[in-house]
Amino acid sequence: MLTLILAAAISAATPVLREDNIPEIVSLLTLEEKAAILVGCGSTAFDGIGRNDVGVKGSAGATHAIPRLGIPSIIFADGPAGLRIDPVRPGTDKTFYCTGFPIGTMLASTWNTDIVREVGGAMGNEVLEYGVDVLLAPGVNIHRNPLCGRNFEYYSEDPLLAGEIAAAYISGVQSNGVGTSIKHFALNNQELNRLHNDARVSPRAMREIYLKAFEIAVRKAQPWTLMSSYNYINGTHASEAPWLLTDILRGDWGFRGVVVTDWGGGYDTAAQIHAGNDLIQSGSDSRYNALIQAVKDGRLSIEDVDACVTRALELIVKCPSFKGYSHSDDPDLEAHAQVCRKAADEGVIMLKNDGALPAGPDGVTALLGVTSYDFIAGGTGSGDVHRPYVVDLQQGLADGGFTLEPGLDGFYSKYMDDERWRCRMIDGNNSWVIDRERPIEAVPDSLIERAAQTADRAFVTIGRVFGEGKDRDLHYSYMLQDRELELLRKTADAFHAQGKKVTVILNVGGVVEMESWQKLADAIVLCWQPGEEGGHTVAAVLCGGVNPSGRLPMTISRCYEDEPSAPNFPRVFEDKPFNYSFYRRLEGNKKDYTVKDIDYTDYAEDIYVGYRYFGTKARNAVAYPFGYGLSYTTFRWSNMTVKSSGVYLVSVTVTNTGKAAGKDVVELYVAAPGRSIDKPSRELKAFAKTPLLQPGESCTVEMTVPAESLASWEEQCWTVEKGRYRFIAARHAADKGLKSSVRIRD
Ligand code: BGC
Repeated sequence: MLTLILAAAISAATPVLREDNIPEIVSLLTLEEKAAILVGCGSTAFDGIGRNDVGVKGSAGATHAIPRLGIPSIIFADGPAGLRIDPVRPGTDKTFYCTGFPIGTMLASTWNTDIVREVGGAMGNEVLEYGVDVLLAPGVNIHRNPLCGRNFEYYSEDPLLAGEIAAAYISGVQSNGVGTSIKHFALNNQELNRLHNDARVSPRAMREIYLKAFEIAVRKAQPWTLMSSYNYINGTHASEAPWLLTDILRGDWGFRGVVVTDWGGGYDTAAQIHAGNDLIQSGSDSRYNALIQAVKDGRLSIEDVDACVTRALELIVKCPSFKGYSHSDDPDLEAHAQVCRKAADEGVIMLKNDGALPAGPDGVTALLGVTSYDFIAGGTGSGDVHRPYVVDLQQGLADGGFTLEPGLDGFYSKYMDDERWRCRMIDGNNSWVIDRERPIEAVPDSLIERAAQTADRAFVTIGRVFGEGKDRDLHYSYMLQDRELELLRKTADAFHAQGKKVTVILNVGGVVEMESWQKLADAIVLCWQPGEEGGHTVAAVLCGGVNPSGRLPMTISRCYEDEPSAPNFPRVFEDKPFNYSFYRRLEGNKKDYTVKDIDYTDYAEDIYVGYRYFGTKARNAVAYPFGYGLSYTTFRWSNMTVKSSGVYLVSVTVTNTGKAAGKDVVELYVAAPGRSIDKPSRELKAFAKTPLLQPGESCTVEMTVPAESLASWEEQCWTVEKGRYRFIAARHAADKGLKSSVRIRD
């Protein structure tokens, strides 16, 4: 039936869709056509979630075209670390690779909105040139717990940092005339049972922490679309909640775009449309039929349907597919690789440096750790990009003029060749949600000892990859494994005995436990998953060609048990391998919430997430505080001023007092009076990254704090407490910093 409607002939007298005749077109659409616009091509066009083979091969979804009214289909494809489409197509030798940019967490680690906008610009150009209309990114869910399997796609534990980075990303992508879809709205902070889990959270934590990043990005950058999440929030499915999608999103924040479900998310189509969830993706015949039936039964009003169709058409007329853009299928991947490189260079965080770095390229370098020879550019799942290549550290160092110790280089090169075919997919055959096993550390002691004699230094890489579909295992992924600890101990013993230094490189999608091993390392460089140019970036940082200027977008706690959310986050069961995201305790929509952390999750830590908790309630007892990162140079800060004129204008002068050129980050925290309202000891309210400062050079950075950003969500409204506020310009969340006070009077 659907096919018959779509094939209807275009009548000469019928108008076609234009930007200025949307109400007329809505009045001409039949109910069936309206349902076809709102429910995606899903079941007929897809060979599985995230795999659209109609339109652009390997994109994620599409809307139905209504040719008689000149309404084209528009195409959605995944991000966030680049455009995700299939790199090869039948019948042609041409390839369709996309640039693999640094993961979201690394973009946030740059604390540089200009570079993130540039990344968005390059990525959006690939969206346009490959014939896609909307990129399903960015992801701004809060890093509530380090075990969340999708944290690498997300930015931070702090909503201001996440919101500002997202706004820059969105404006960069959309400057190409294509759309974004900020996701997953909201409180999708765990993968286990993600379709059915009920996030139980206070209104205050929701507004101040979990919705805030969305609010900032929506207000600043107006993403063309927003993706509702799979989970429930306080008993209502996110995609079926009018208070969320209509009252808060559109009413309070002024969102003018379209809401799209996550793929296959939600149950009750009529409730979704009524809530203001415009597009049902990826769509199915049963959803299409349910929508029509609900209108016929009177359970769904035609006014609700028309409101969603109107917004859908307003989106469609902005898209390249509507404008007839003739895409080249040939974006400039070389130029974009340079953008990837530039962003990665700014996102590397040096956590420790006891005189080990910069090192090389002169002399001989012992390169250890399987990941050095098989670098991880990005995570798995729908956030995985089909990139043309990955520069690993072995290649990056060689290209940077380093000489590798031949015994280890020879061993690892052969070992990795053997292991590549041996390593299997963990947990069965669904490669989309399942990670590939990684080779274990197996270098013979004799090779380490010999290298310690002949090499000048050791670099050891520890790697972690994970992604959508399951959360990280505490023992396997967050902790270092016995073989890895042994490798670090043996390398440190052998090299330290010769008075030589050991640097550890963390090529990871999320934080790992550090307290048990970090004393073995003379330097620690956190390079996240830096995209396709990773090896070049890390080599440049190690030898000092690039001065690291990244800062942590989350706290690294001393141990997992210290995490405020640890008592209320699922632990993955090692002994029961299955596809965790689709783990289903509930039958359909039956709300029988009995099992803690699976059926429901209590956000008992409330607003005390990350540094808000550690700074206020745990005396900053952490391994590394939020906002932390070292440089090869030193900076002096002076002349802090705070001027009040509706907004607070804060300025700080930064002078490079060291010997290397470098960039610094000024983090502006505010400590509220905390008398009439319970407040964290400080909260990030603005930040600024300096340009590259030469030794002796100064600059003055300026930051703006809107007065309303000091408010807390109290009794269903935003309230600014009266009293004295301290503005603290600091290097990280636990730094005393420079201070200046302002008083807010009655
Ligand atoms: C993911 C989304 C993604 C969509 C389309 C879902 O499973 O949660 O982030 O955009 O699939 O691939």
